[in-house]
Amino acid sequence: MCGIVGFIEKEKKDINAQDVLINCLKKLEYRGYDSAGIAVVDCENKERKLEIRKAKGRLSNLEELIKTSPVEGTTGIGHTRWATHGEPSDINSHPHTDVSGYIAVVHNGIIENHNKLRKWLEEHGVVFKSETDTECIAHLIDFHYNGDLVTAVSEVMKRLEGSYALAVVCQQEPDLIVVAKKDCPLVIGLGEGFNLIASDVTPILEYSREVQYLDDNQVAKVTATDVTIFNKDGVIVEVPVSHVDWDMQSAQKNGYEHFMLKEICEQPFVLDQTYKARVYAGKIDLQEINSIVEKATHVVIVGCGTAYHAAFVAKYSIEHFARIPVDIDVASEFRYRDPIINENDLCIVISQSGETADTLQAMRILKQKGAKVIAITNVVGSTVAREADFVMYTQAGPEIAVASTKAFTTQLMCVYLLTCALTKDLEVREKLMSELEEMGAKAQLVVDRQAEIQKFASRQFNKTKVFYFGRLSDYAISLESALKLKEISYTHSEAFAAGELKHGPIALIDDKTLVVATCCQPFLYDKMDSNIKEVKARGAKTLAITFEGNHAFDDVSDEVFLIPKTDPYIAPILSVIVTQLYAYYCSVNRGNDPDHPRNLAKSVTVE
Ligand code: F6R
Repeated sequence: MCGIVGFIEKEKKDINAQDVLINCLKKLEYRGYDSAGIAVVDCENKERKLEIRKAKGRLSNLEELIKTSPVEGTTGIGHTRWATHGEPSDINSHPHTDVSGYIAVVHNGIIENHNKLRKWLEEHGVVFKSETDTECIAHLIDFHYNGDLVTAVSEVMKRLEGSYALAVVCQQEPDLIVVAKKDCPLVIGLGEGFNLIASDVTPILEYSREVQYLDDNQVAKVTATDVTIFNKDGVIVEVPVSHVDWDMQSAQKNGYEHFMLKEICEQPFVLDQTYKARVYAGKIDLQEINSIVEKATHVVIVGCGTAYHAAFVAKYSIEHFARIPVDIDVASEFRYRDPIINENDLCIVISQSGETADTLQAMRILKQKGAKVIAITNVVGSTVAREADFVMYTQAGPEIAVASTKAFTTQLMCVYLLTCALTKDLEVREKLMSELEEMGAKAQLVVDRQAEIQKFASRQFNKTKVFYFGRLSDYAISLESALKLKEISYTHSEAFAAGELKHGPIALIDDKTLVVATCCQPFLYDKMDSNIKEVKARGAKTLAITFEGNHAFDDVSDEVFLIPKTDPYIAPILSVIVTQLYAYYCSVNRGNDPDHPRNLAKSVTVE
């Protein structure tokens, strides 16, 4: 939620701050697109005033603005906003300044005590311009500023409650950017004669692959040639430099109309990569977690949204194959319900970004309770990755579209690999592993048939209600399918366990309803057959997703989509590709932008 960037160079050369900031903000637009803004100062011309440009709406509005009103300078910060405090408007857009306009701040996070701070500042004569919590920070920095921006920011940090990643520039010290963080991510990219800062590594990659990840309560002084990082007591700390080898290509659209479609189509490849990262010569390599896996008698998994749905699928597979009980929870519930955690519990958190505030807190609670935590995450160096005891990386590469697709299926691959590791029956384990090995190729067969789904969507995209149902892991995947559709097409969609239909939801079925029945549990085909007939009898149109070679639904459902045959418990990887594509094409048919769904941001760093 909200992206921040910063750039500083010694002297204006080929690249200028304004262009770098805009370019970097483009890569972070997935974090929010309610408004965007930049602030620039100039260390070559210290007389030049701090200049701000900001505009409500998409980044393109800011780009238009600076075409007619460019800013010049060596040092700048930028912001792309997902509104929390105050409606999306020019005035509430970041950067925010102090009264004199000498100090500018961009902020990702929420200042929880902002009402108290605002009152205090008003009592000291400050007149606020915006409704944001962030503006308090700019005024407080001014209040503590005595010619040294690092000290002023450090003093202000002591007064802030809540979460923040901050970048600050100041007209009196145009040769530095000060950054600070607590509970929101912040990365520093190291260049030659320039440095950058950003909320994640994607904007940095075009300029540098050497990065430093700031820890909570640290503050850094970033000049064009140096980075000095201080802890909360003002003592200089050594922060290791990490090399990022993410493929830049995966952060480009490469001819696809949208990132989402590209990411759906990448799934065969990234599923393969995720499998190969952990399996060598037919054996699973989870060495570093073997000791926990071996003694696990109970599994606890938490995540939010799509990541929670991966946990849901995991519950079915681990209980079925490994015969170990699994409890799952959404992180925002888990963290407040005083969960019971035992020594031998295998605790897993799932998070694409590795920065989701609730998931992070849930993980910290698990650790406080003495558990060792395995993180399944996509982002190397993310907070979840750094704080977990062990990490299984999904090899999805950067996921840019707000709605998660390839990160989800690679999360599934990771939980299935963990299922294999937990499964003591070697024959069962080997069979499962050989199915997983083929998953990339089978996913390709589904992706290759996207035109069929596109056609189906062009006939059905106007349905006002879409219900997904299934049994066992088909129910779990129905939850994800319904989420995907509502996120990007804004259609009212819900998921039900098929057997629950008669206990209430069937009252909603009428001739404006589409029902997608996932039917990949052969021993339950008869039950699904009855459920489909029940909704059809009430006017619904139906699509059944089932295995190739199964003709049981041909005469029952209006349409049938066949996926390659595999084990019913891992079929979710394939069936969800069908519903991802359906959601994507519905969104496009409805004239929406599937990469930037309204009201959503990719990285939910506020609670
Ligand atoms: C849906 C989606 C969200 C995320 C959720 C958790 O498409 O992307 O539901 O899954 O916000 O995010 P991460 O996985 O980054 O913790």
